[in-house]
Amino acid sequence: MFDTIRWDGDAVVLIDQRYLPVKEDYLACRDAGAVASAITDMVVRGAPAIGVTAALGIALGLKQSGAKDLESLRERMEEVCALMAGTRPTAVNLFWAIDRMKRRFEELSEGGLEAVVEGLEREAVAMRAEDIDINRRMGAHGAALVPDGARILTHCNAGALATAGYGTALGMMRAAVEAGKKIEVIADETRPFLQGARLTAWELERDNIPVTLITDNMAGHFMARGEIDLVITGSDRIASNGDVCNKIGTYSVAVLAKEHGIPFYAVAPVSTFDLSIASGKEIPIEERPLEEVSHFQGVRVAPEGITIRNPAFDVTPNAMVTAIICENGIARAPYSETLRRIAKSEQAA
Ligand code: MRU
Repeated sequence: MFDTIRWDGDAVVLIDQRYLPVKEDYLACRDAGAVASAITDMVVRGAPAIGVTAALGIALGLKQSGAKDLESLRERMEEVCALMAGTRPTAVNLFWAIDRMKRRFEELSEGGLEAVVEGLEREAVAMRAEDIDINRRMGAHGAALVPDGARILTHCNAGALATAGYGTALGMMRAAVEAGKKIEVIADETRPFLQGARLTAWELERDNIPVTLITDNMAGHFMARGEIDLVITGSDRIASNGDVCNKIGTYSVAVLAKEHGIPFYAVAPVSTFDLSIASGKEIPIEERPLEEVSHFQGVRVAPEGITIRNPAFDVTPNAMVTAIICENGIARAPYSETLRRIAKSEQAA
């Protein structure tokens, strides 16, 4: 198995997702600035993976700060946190990770500068390990919802590459396979960045999980023909009412699924819940470079000078979400009640 994110003591090492599946390259980010650029430039992507990477980037920034006292270290902490927070706006796991590191800083500060630097390194390393454990727990809960023989549509990449390992949506599929079920995955290519074609298909192929790649506009066709049994995606931010923000195109898939009576499941850790917002309307949607739409692998595919939009995420209204699977269990509507409960408990809501 590959490592999506590795900590080697003085660098954050990332599998470079821009070049998959053509090249399996690793990029060593040797300072906090390089870590932030790696997030912005999509070397690493996927909500939980971004969170863990940012935490390691903060730890690296403090380790290299050269600060002589706690106050200068705190100033450096503010700088590196702001740097990480400015990378990508939508996935709330990023801000969750930054807040957790800030809280830990304060908890450790009584012990002095060295205790803070060492403690934050340990915290970030623990977050990486915890993420894998959480994904396995989500998988175990979710596997029960996957019938034997299921043909599952997924959108974007919510796999090992989008997390520290194992995956959220793909973790649920892996867990179903580990439980002895036969499944087939239909992967949307996921224009414009092609996370489905480049990453999901690559990951599943390596795991010997049968995968069929389709373009995004084929999903309705296969649903209408009865060739898709369920939809499973990850999420970048889930509002307190259960609105699910995920990769652009997820909403269209959810509308189609509802029309065809197909269950739509979102799999995401509690760190993806944003219980401070009432609905998905409050989620900032990242707009990415227009070249992602106007060009394909460096070749222009649209006329120059035209208007282009490139929102990277959309919001699926809670009414279209059959269930939300997190590490504590399975939540169903009414989400405004069940999400709060499940976020705190180990019980299924
Ligand atoms: O722009 P990306 O590739 O970071 O978007 C990723 C997604 O939308 C994933 O589906 C989401 O982060 C869930 S990952 C477990």
